[in-house]
Amino acid sequence: MTVKTLTINGQLISAREDETVLEAARDAGIHIPTLCYLEGVSEVGACRLCLVEIAGSNKLQPACVTKVAEGMEIQTNSERLQKYRRTIVEMLFAEGNHICSVCVANGNCELQDLAIEMGMDHVRLDYHFPDRKVDVSHDRFGIDHNRCVLCTRCVRVCDEIEGAHTWDMAGRGTNSHVITDLNQPWGTSQTCTSCGKCVNACPTGAIFYKGSSIGEMKHDRAKLDFLVTAREKQQWNF
Ligand code: SF4
Ligand code: SF4
Ligand code: FES
Repeated sequence: MTVKTLTINGQLISAREDETVLEAARDAGIHIPTLCYLEGVSEVGACRLCLVEIAGSNKLQPACVTKVAEGMEIQTNSERLQKYRRTIVEMLFAEGNHICSVCVANGNCELQDLAIEMGMDHVRLDYHFPDRKVDVSHDRFGIDHNRCVLCTRCVRVCDEIEGAHTWDMAGRGTNSHVITDLNQPWGTSQTCTSCGKCVNACPTGAIFYKGSSIGEMKHDRAKLDFLVTAREKQQWNF
């Protein structure tokens, strides 16, 4: 295994050659904001919250899908990056219907945490107020598309960990949305095993346990970590 030496925010660090900039930064205790990234499933580089500056390149690079290289000089928290990230979070708030005060995930939401981290005290863009559906046809879970940020974490855990591939993406541009099976109500899905992995993977209050009231929807990410370890190390055999 080859080890690469690089600097992040002036701090000299070493990383395995197969690591991403995000993994190397996390190993070194350096925080980079993320939203679509979820440890244990594939990276898609969709949300762009993890953008970093790499010396010699004018283009900002997403840390979650950029591999480390020898001699890289990375900045993770410049003024330029802070401005970009705040704008991205504001766009996410403006394009959906995120009314935190009445959301099941109020206080337990990664989008809300990011807004706080970016110092987003208001949204400078016009709200779109899209007309989106809520599907509560499943016995135990519901999805409110108004709160979906299209991170595809549900799609990936369902496919890569549970192996059910119930979730998928449909539509383009502002019409993009997640669907279950062949765009049918979740409750009629033939593939869903009701495992709840998508519920725990969702960063917002979009997928929730039915019966949750305001602020009651807590995500148990530890459950996902356990499942990934079990799959990769076959630990359920012991
Ligand atoms: S409950 Fe499990 S099987 Fe059903 S959609 Fe969610 S992750 Fe897939
Ligand atoms: S439902 Fe949740 S996990 Fe799935 S894409 Fe939307 S925000 Fe992401
Ligand atoms: S966390 Fe890297 S692009 Fe979303």
